[in-house]
Amino acid sequence: MSIKPKIELRQRHKRLLGYVRESWGKLAVAMFCMIVVSATTSATAFIVKPVLDDIFMKKNEQMLLLMPLAVMIIYLLRGAAMYGQEFLMHYVGESIIRQLRDNLYERISDLSLAFFQREKTGVLMSRITYDVNIIKNMVSNAVTGALRDCFTIVGLVFVIFYRDWKLALIAILVLPLAVFPIYEFGRRIRRFSTRSQESMGDLSAFLHETIGGNKVVKAFNMEDAEKSRFADRNKQVFRFEIKTFRSKALSSPVMEILGGIGMALIIWYGGKGVISGESTPGTFFSFMTAVMLLYAPIRKLTKLNNILQRGLAAADRVFDLLETKSDITEPEHPRPLPEPPHRITFDNVSFAYADSDPVLKNLNLEVHPGERLGIVGTSGGGKTTLVNLIPRFFDVTEGAVRIDGIDIREAAISDLRSRVAVVTQEPILFNDTIGNNIAYGSPNAPREKVLDAARAAYIYDFIQSLPKGLETGIGELGNRLSGGEKQRMCIARALLKDAPILILDEATSALDAEAEQLVQKALENLMRGRTSFVIAHRLSTVFDADRIIVLADGQIVEQGRHSSLLAARGEYYKLYCRQMAGRSDGTGEDPEDT
Ligand SMILES: Nc1ncnc2c1ncn2[C@@H]1O[C@H](COP(=O)(O)OP(=O)(O)O)[C@@H](O)[C@H]1O
Ligand SMILES: [Mg+2]
Repeated sequence: MSIKPKIELRQRHKRLLGYVRESWGKLAVAMFCMIVVSATTSATAFIVKPVLDDIFMKKNEQMLLLMPLAVMIIYLLRGAAMYGQEFLMHYVGESIIRQLRDNLYERISDLSLAFFQREKTGVLMSRITYDVNIIKNMVSNAVTGALRDCFTIVGLVFVIFYRDWKLALIAILVLPLAVFPIYEFGRRIRRFSTRSQESMGDLSAFLHETIGGNKVVKAFNMEDAEKSRFADRNKQVFRFEIKTFRSKALSSPVMEILGGIGMALIIWYGGKGVISGESTPGTFFSFMTAVMLLYAPIRKLTKLNNILQRGLAAADRVFDLLETKSDITEPEHPRPLPEPPHRITFDNVSFAYADSDPVLKNLNLEVHPGERLGIVGTSGGGKTTLVNLIPRFFDVTEGAVRIDGIDIREAAISDLRSRVAVVTQEPILFNDTIGNNIAYGSPNAPREKVLDAARAAYIYDFIQSLPKGLETGIGELGNRLSGGEKQRMCIARALLKDAPILILDEATSALDAEAEQLVQKALENLMRGRTSFVIAHRLSTVFDADRIIVLADGQIVEQGRHSSLLAARGEYYKLYCRQMAGRSDGTGEDPEDT
């Protein structure tokens, strides 16, 4: 991450303040409590003089009763105010963080697919969990602590000047010396902690991949390689954490040494005053107590800078994410889409992923209402890319995709997506019950409908065989679900959504022949009466499509029915022959890689 110009930083800090502002009432009360806490600190230093001079030196009996009473009241107030301040500030801190987390999740959810393909899941997760907590630390500990410490310092400085202004001047002289180390350490801490967090994000992303993909790691005997790759990343985190900590650890001793020098000067000069009779022991010790009490808040203030730097770096990362704009934008005045069935037109469509060569080139295609379109072609030929344009997972680079003549970019995104159901090669189920997984996206569907969908997806019998039926949690089943069962649940989900446009992206290619038969039957039910795009890896899936297009080099090189395409002896015929050859090998698998 580059260093941001100062202006921009300030604007961002203002944004953070915006979050703080919402809790201003609680903040005001907390601030009042802080002032009380600070006042009691100064009062403690202040009453050292009457205690010493009146009780011990002058042996005043009245003061003997008065002073303990005063101390009790001071500490009672202090206790109550401390509780109020701690509680309120953490309340405010947690509220801000909760809001930030909500906003981050909302922002992330709305970002385009391109964003999710670009960013690592682990990094995004660490924004919401790790970075946000650092900001909380800054808000509820540092900022509030800072205010209290500032009040305390003001109070104590008043006490020391009131007691002995000449002595106070000497003590204050040491202060400027402390500014430089504070500044320098802060700078370092900020730099290293940014690096440390970046490498922590790296580590999370790495964990996410290798734990998720553990089966592959094992299959390829890569455990040792992954262990050492992990160790490398872990070492990076360690290095930056240590560097951060070294700067932190150094800043306190430097301050202590400076404090020691100040103290020595005070004892020498102040002691001289008491010996010569210019000052009283009470004045001297009251002064001394105030100076010693000053040490803690000043030390905390130097730490504050560190926490602030860390927090601001985290805030930068969080706001970077919050300010990310989605590539897929909502039209200002959305046009409603007409009633189904839909005609879908690709009008001179070109598409390129960011900074790469075009995947689709000047492609023209018209799919009639209710038509079943098969899409075949070699792997990487752009089939998935083509269908991803329909629900606007990506926007065309040139040309337009139209539904019943309306450019899909002119329709509301939710309207568009409500018309499209997608079943992909990898069935995605959420950690919820089977029933809720099928009703995902249709939360108000009555149970009967859910069961109907399950029946049409040929998963009903399986669900009935489970003791808890639809209420069975996916987690309870663990890895028991087969690919075919998962896939049929996803088909049931698509059936329940009842969308007029259907996209099947190699929905059966991960399944064995037996499972495929059942899924295929389920898909037949799903496609009935809908405008369907069927991407097929096994050509047998599209033999009876109304039309098959063959994609190669980002263009449609052939189209027609299965029989006429075979007769034409072109690309489709070649694909067909290759698959048939694969079958007769006895492998039963397609020759192409998946
Ligand atoms: N998110 C992406 N970013 C960049 N390139 C991509 C992305 N997704 C796919 N591609 C590239 O686009 C081409 C077409 O991919 P795809 O549409 O998935 O092909 P198919 O589904 O026909 O196998 C491939 O060369 C692939 O590498
Ligand atoms: Mg694909």
